[in-house]
Amino acid sequence: MNRERSFHKSLLIFFLALCVCSFIYSGEFPAGEYAERRNKLKEKIGNAVAVITSAPVYIRNGDVEYEYRQGSNFYYLTGFEEPKSAALIDGLSGRFILFVQPKNPALEIWTGEIYGIEKTKEKFGADECYDISEFDSFLSSLNKRKIYYPKSDNELSKKIPVESEGYDLNPLIAEMRLIKSEYEIAQLKKAIDITSSALIETMRQATPGIYEYELQAIVEYNFRMGGSKRNGFPSIVGSGKNSCILHYTSNNRKTEDGDIVLMDVGAEYNYYTADITRTFPVNGRFSEEQRIIYEIVLKAQKEAINIIKPGARFYQIDSVARAVIKNELVGLGLLKPDENVMKFFMHGTSHWVGLDVHDAGSYDSPDGIRRGQILRPGMVLAVEPGIYISENSGVDKKWHNIGVRIEDDVLVTENGCEVLSSALPREATEIEKIMKR
Ligand code: GLY
Ligand code: MN
Repeated sequence: MNRERSFHKSLLIFFLALCVCSFIYSGEFPAGEYAERRNKLKEKIGNAVAVITSAPVYIRNGDVEYEYRQGSNFYYLTGFEEPKSAALIDGLSGRFILFVQPKNPALEIWTGEIYGIEKTKEKFGADECYDISEFDSFLSSLNKRKIYYPKSDNELSKKIPVESEGYDLNPLIAEMRLIKSEYEIAQLKKAIDITSSALIETMRQATPGIYEYELQAIVEYNFRMGGSKRNGFPSIVGSGKNSCILHYTSNNRKTEDGDIVLMDVGAEYNYYTADITRTFPVNGRFSEEQRIIYEIVLKAQKEAINIIKPGARFYQIDSVARAVIKNELVGLGLLKPDENVMKFFMHGTSHWVGLDVHDAGSYDSPDGIRRGQILRPGMVLAVEPGIYISENSGVDKKWHNIGVRIEDDVLVTENGCEVLSSALPREATEIEKIMKR
């Protein structure tokens, strides 16, 4: 009898696990995931109410709009992608209310389907759903309530009733976004896999004389064909001297034999973005100087990743990478011992990655240590040391125009960390091997 019961119990656990997994990977709208986030927020706000509006639509020119993307915080709480909407989460009554554009057949001829009130309520799990035109008066009825709203939103700030107590919603959501759920990690893994395959394909097709924008086209074509509808950020493709420009996005130079190419790119998948950088020689073989610099950056990255585990502090990642780069550059005679390594490594080593490429979440620790955030399982961060030697650096010419950055995305786990982009080779010899093909 006991054996039978435990068999049934195992079967039930197996079945539940199967449901969770198939739900995570099915691609259907994960209503439970969003409900859980809102429940966590309710716990944080107590008997206050939280209000947030969708991202604005920006006009490019005439009647052409910039590509629309929902605001990350709004999307995080609702999963709703349409503009001209607002969400309200009431900690007191527990209600989740959405305000959306009503159906409009004339407009839908141009824009495609608008969810409208009924369908939104059903699909997005709202307790109530109203026409967005009712939002302002609803908001005024909240006078005397404690209201959390994004203080960065000037339009919404103006509408908060003066008699209410206003608090900033952004830090609460940022705290939640810092720890990724299983569902979020699955989306990030997909974005990272798409980006990794696209970078391999781009390295295979690179050849001297190719334009930077052609390399961009190859990588982004492969993003789209891999299932990513949008980039997480503008692609950085810098060859030769452009490899030393940290956020170079003009991508208009023709590469030359002997150039190094730095590609910092990320496909977005279900709003989650990868952030990966690979640096490779356009002719398929690193020069002696390029290889020396490459190996230093790789060593710095490996040592920095090695210390990532629960309990480590955020700034330690940068300290480790910076120390390796400083020692090695001093050893090479490119840097004097009393010079700041910032001369060649001008940016930080890490940042959070998630819905935004530089994701939400404090870098400071709760006990007030600057950049001393304590790493916890579920955090995802980029580790991207670099060395950039421009023509103005004052060192021997043979080192000029070598910009190297190596960037991978790392998940903090219970016991250490997992490099989510580990399938994408980063050893110099492996990169040369890919390019030979
Ligand atoms: N991928 C660009 C950056 O991290 O700044
Ligand atoms: Mn980055």
